[in-house]
Amino acid sequence: MDVYYIDGDFVSADRATIPVNDLAVLRGFGVFDFLRTYGGRPFHLRDHLQRLQHSAEQIGLNCPWSVEELEGIVEQTLQRNRHEESNIRIVVTGGPSEDFITPGTTPRLIVMVSSLIVMPAQWYSSGIKIITAPIERLMPGAKSIDYIPAIVALRRAAEQNAVEAVYLDGSDRVLEGTTCNIFLFGDGKFITPDRGVLSGITRKVVLGLVQSRFPLERRDVSLAELLAAKEVFLCSSNKEVVPVVKVDEKVIGDGTPGPNTGKVRSLFDEYTRAWATGSTPQL
Ligand SMILES: Cc1ncc(COP(=O)(O)O)c(C=O)c1O
Repeated sequence: MDVYYIDGDFVSADRATIPVNDLAVLRGFGVFDFLRTYGGRPFHLRDHLQRLQHSAEQIGLNCPWSVEELEGIVEQTLQRNRHEESNIRIVVTGGPSEDFITPGTTPRLIVMVSSLIVMPAQWYSSGIKIITAPIERLMPGAKSIDYIPAIVALRRAAEQNAVEAVYLDGSDRVLEGTTCNIFLFGDGKFITPDRGVLSGITRKVVLGLVQSRFPLERRDVSLAELLAAKEVFLCSSNKEVVPVVKVDEKVIGDGTPGPNTGKVRSLFDEYTRAWATGSTPQL
C-alpha cells in the first residue's frame, strides 16, 4: 500500500482523507505539482516546488512551506514507499473555510507517491493522434487543481481515438495540451508557444537541449501553422517526449515520427539517464 503525507502525518493511501469543509473540495481552490523519479531521484524537484509556490501565489493561496521544507517532506514520503520509480504529486489545498468560500490561514499539504505509470510503447514508436479543443485556462501560469476542461477535452479526444487534446484560444492560437506542452518542427526550426501556457519543467529541459543544436523560436503558433508542420511533439513529466502524427484528421508530415523529434527524444533520454545516475547535467 502506498504511503501519503497529509498535514504532518504519513498514512497509508486507503486512510488518506481530508475534511469536507476544505476549499479544495468545495470550490476547487488549491494548487498542485506533479513529477517523477529517474533512478529513484525526483526529477527537477526544486523547479517543481518553485512552480508550486508560484501557482499558490498566483491564486492567492497562502503556502507557508519553504522549498527546503517541501524537499524534505517529499524525500521522506519517497523513503516510506518502495517503488523502483515513482510518480510524485504535491497538493496544497485551500484548507477549511468558515463561510465555505473565504480562504482561511491553514492550507493543507498532501504528498502522494505511487508507482510510476508507464505510457504505451506504441505512442513513441508510431506516434499519437491529438485533437484540438477551443479552451483557454483562466490562469495559465498556475497549476490549479481545477482540471474540468482537461477532463472534458480528454473524453472528447478518447471518443476520436486520440491521446491528447491541445487547447486553442479564441483566435485559433495553439496553446498547450491538457497536461503537456507542444513543439512543432518546420522550415528547419523548432517552434513552441510561449504565451498563455504553463511553464512546463519538461519543456524547460527540452528547450535547454534544443537551443544549442537547432534554430528555435518561442512565439505564438497558429492552428494553420500547426497543421502544416513537418513534425509535432508533446512533452510533459508523465509522457516525456511523444511524437504526434495526426492533429484532428490532418496527418502530420508523412504520418510517422520525424527524425528531428527522434533526435530530441534521444537527447532527453540521455539527459534522464544521466540524472538517474546522480548527476545534474548542464542544459
Ligand atoms: C496545462 C499543462 N501544461 C503543461 C504541462 C507540462 O508540465 P511538466 O512538463 O512540468 O509536466 C502540464 C503538466 O501537467 C499541464 O498540466
